[in-house]
Amino acid sequence: MARLANWLRLAAMIAAAAITAAVSFPAAAGVDLPTLEKGKGEKCVEDTQYMRKNHMDLLKHHRDDTMRKGIRTTKHSLKKCIECHASEKSGSVAASKEDFCAACHSYVSVKLDCWDCHATKPGKSPQPKVGLAPLKAAVSPLLASSINGASK
Ligand code: HEC
Ligand code: HEC
Ligand code: HEC
Repeated sequence: MARLANWLRLAAMIAAAAITAAVSFPAAAGVDLPTLEKGKGEKCVEDTQYMRKNHMDLLKHHRDDTMRKGIRTTKHSLKKCIECHASEKSGSVAASKEDFCAACHSYVSVKLDCWDCHATKPGKSPQPKVGLAPLKAAVSPLLASSINGASK
């Protein structure tokens, strides 16, 4: 029994390691990044180096701030990212493979579900494409309540 448990733990560790390796940051491995269009304005909302590594933590529905504490800052708003990073050519951050968000993500094989609901272009309707009713059913009560609060 103990041996089987050990074996299972090893298998789980190997699987976890494989997942980590698949999404590891290319710059950290010394690999060149794809060419990115430069953002508008002088600088990003945070230090560029910081953004390269940590933008996902700022974005994911502002998990820490918006969701747990009920604070919604606009500094790291997804809409703002899109305003500054939409491509000159496509007008979008993820319509073509060269567009800012998509360029890196396709390079590292990260696939975002964000664009199911959020527009990839600036100036689009502030509400996500999906109605709130199916959304509420699909996500945790915590997210639903934060969205209710925001839409008032
Ligand atoms: C199922 C639909 C859905 C998906 C998928 C989704 N969101 Fe949202 N998101 C919403 C709704 C609804 C709001 C609240 C309305 C608003 O503020 O525009 C929101 C708000 C936000 C906000 C705060 C408002 C803003 O513009 O900054 C951020 C940031 C955000 N989402 C990021 C993301 C990111 C990043 C992803 C992908 C990892 C994602 N969302 C995926 C529905 C979705
Ligand atoms: C006011 C305009 C502006 C906003 C808003 C903005 N950015 Fe930026 N961003 C820039 C500029 C300009 C650069 C390039 C800075 C440099 O070259 O040092 C940049 C750089 C970056 C980089 C690094 C790109 C590289 O070359 O490696 C990432 C990643 C990034 N931004 C993501 C985001 C995300 C995600 C958001 C929203 C939370 C966002 N940015 C909001 C202007 C902006
Ligand atoms: C400099 C390259 C680069 C650029 C530019 C970039 N990303 Fe990313 N992004 C990554 C990498 C690498 C990951 C995966 C990191 C990991 O999981 O360790 C990632 C992950 C994410 C995640 C989390 C995905 C998940 O399911 O966990 C979100 C959300 C995200 N990026 C949003 C954006 C948005 C929005 C933009 C455009 C405004 C953008 N990114 C531009 C490199 C980039």
